[in-house]
Amino acid sequence: MGEVDPAFIQDVEHRPKLTNTESEGIPIIDLSILSSPEPDSDEFRRLVAEISDASEKWGFFQVINHGVPSETRQKIELAARQFFALPKEEKSKVRRDEVNPYGYYDTEHTKNVRDWKEVFDFSVESTFIPVSPEPDDEALKEMISQWPEYPPEMREVCEEYVHEVQKLSYKLLELISLSLGLPEKRLNGFFKDQTSFLRMNHYPPCPSPHLALGVGRHKDAGALTILAQDDVGGLEVKRKTDGEWVFVKPTPDAYIINVGDIIQVWSNDKYESVEHRVKVNSERERFSIPFFVNPAHYTWVQPLDEIVNEENPAKYKPYNWGKFFTTRKTSNYKKLGVENIQIYHFKTTKSSDE
Ligand code: OGA
Ligand code: NI
Repeated sequence: MGEVDPAFIQDVEHRPKLTNTESEGIPIIDLSILSSPEPDSDEFRRLVAEISDASEKWGFFQVINHGVPSETRQKIELAARQFFALPKEEKSKVRRDEVNPYGYYDTEHTKNVRDWKEVFDFSVESTFIPVSPEPDDEALKEMISQWPEYPPEMREVCEEYVHEVQKLSYKLLELISLSLGLPEKRLNGFFKDQTSFLRMNHYPPCPSPHLALGVGRHKDAGALTILAQDDVGGLEVKRKTDGEWVFVKPTPDAYIINVGDIIQVWSNDKYESVEHRVKVNSERERFSIPFFVNPAHYTWVQPLDEIVNEENPAKYKPYNWGKFFTTRKTSNYKKLGVENIQIYHFKTTKSSDE
């Protein structure tokens, strides 16, 4: 063993204790009864209560017995490994650019040089978003998925996976809707022309794990995220009760679900979108596959009518999801040097901690 850099020792001492015991980690929710749901049963009511509790206290939970076949997931996990193992030259053939935000990128080529990862983004549906963040410009563009030549089954495997994970997304949206005291299908209409997309993340081993993060602290901007992580682990969630970073222990075949900014706004802050980040590993590479569930570009996001009233007035002004999305993508690509657009910019009253 060589000498340990004193800066590293200090950092280790200041690391939050990893307290992921059963009682302190994010909740694990069993969805098996959804294969034959009886909405009036105590079991079903208990499930809705668990979703409500987890969304309110953590903003994060894991689901098991979710209905996505393990073979479908194994196939896409293998395709991700095969794709990222290609020479950079080959991966660069499907590199994203300023016009089209789908494709391959590594963080060497964006302003976000601190994230230690490479990414492949695509959608399987045709997705339109505004060309420009300017409110008066109504032009739309289609985002085009780019498919690599290798592995040859990439597209087919991805389409099969999205088909399954999308079914899970509707089950979750319905449970969340019920948990907010709304009709089961209240949220479904927002996803008719959805702008959801799938991302493959590859976090290579990092020689100085104390200096980098796989992904820095952030909140997800969309409605829901459905994440498949492998057995390496690295995802940490900021616990609402005390602000500690809590390690999310990999559970084989489970999905990690988090509510994004849009559900925070729809629920008028009842379910908050929670910060999370990814630690890198010095020895093992890590793969993760999030599915970002996003509404149609023309959706005006605002607290739902049934939720706001005199005692609970709307905490946000309506904002257009397509414009929000395009503003984010544009500023991620260009080094604008300005703060990224955030939902709190649409708060009706600013609180002191913002
Ligand atoms: C993300 C994210 C977590 C992970 O891509 O937004 O939070 O474990 N990823 O890769
Ligand atoms: Ni995230």
